[in-house]
Amino acid sequence: MTAQRSVLVTGASSGIGRSACLLYARRGAAVLAMARTGDRLRTLVEEIRAAGGRAAFAVGDVGRRADVREAVALAAKEFGGVDTVVANAGFGIYSDVASITEEDFDSIVRTNVKGVLWALQESLPHLRAARGRFGIVSSILGRAAVPYSALYCMTKHALTALADTARLELAKDGISVTVVGPGLTATDFQSNAVSRVGVVAAPDNSVGWPVEKVAARLVSAVERRRREVYLGLAGRSLIWARNRFPRLADWGIRRWMQQFEKTLPKKGG
Ligand SMILES: NC(=O)c1ccc[n+]([C@@H]2O[C@H](COP(=O)([O-])OP(=O)(O)OC[C@H]3O[C@@H](n4cnc5c(N)ncnc54)[C@H](OP(=O)(O)O)[C@@H]3O)[C@@H](O)[C@H]2O)c1
Repeated sequence: MTAQRSVLVTGASSGIGRSACLLYARRGAAVLAMARTGDRLRTLVEEIRAAGGRAAFAVGDVGRRADVREAVALAAKEFGGVDTVVANAGFGIYSDVASITEEDFDSIVRTNVKGVLWALQESLPHLRAARGRFGIVSSILGRAAVPYSALYCMTKHALTALADTARLELAKDGISVTVVGPGLTATDFQSNAVSRVGVVAAPDNSVGWPVEKVAARLVSAVERRRREVYLGLAGRSLIWARNRFPRLADWGIRRWMQQFEKTLPKKGG
């Protein structure tokens, strides 16, 4: 990667996005970091600049199209264009299907789906000019679904469909679309998630892959214009079992679910 490269990363204030920014900068790319928390972005940019890299930040909400437009414009102004976008911003909601509210549905779709679509649409003129790369941070749960995470799984499945269609339509412009689906990763994802069932319906994030390892695989997949990359044997096995032996997969997931349900707070208690 040369020093002329310019990358926009959403959800850059923590976790996978932050780590990807540091890695891109180390590889010589100019980085435009976007998220809602300005002080964290400022610290990140200072860290990159102190190490001799080029970076700027845009405070904004990916669910607001105007904020995404401003971030893209800033990257173009500061670095002369955008040739790579990593649409990474996202969060989780744990809820049982029967209790899903319209408010939760709208809020997760706004960030996890619309935020990715706005990033793609707003950066398209630059990506076309650069025959660039568009990376989407999805999840293992973009290809397999688990109980109490229907909302999150729906948004990540939607990203698979968005990527599949965008990849076909944009190939003529030389733009690659890469989906990276991490498994459990050691970030603040679960503490930033909303739970309507009183607990986090997943294994603890801290036992997941180190965030630097996930970011390295993400950056490499986007750079190599890979199509879809799912990380970790456990997650890939889940997708494989779900596709090949769905009843067996359901049986395994139900066993996990029964254990998990014992930890749920008693209703009305
Ligand atoms: N950790 C895992 O186990 C795991 C597994 C599979 C997939 N993923 C995916 O990886 C991505 C990154 O998550 P993470 O694990 O790094 O969690 P994280 O540490 O909570 O990071 C989420 C990032 O997204 C930003 N963000 C959230 N809502 C936003 C909004 N509306 N507008 C702009 N930025 C927003 C957050 O910053 P602000 O709050 O400052 O805006 C933060 O920088 C997500 O898409 C997630 O679904 C994570």
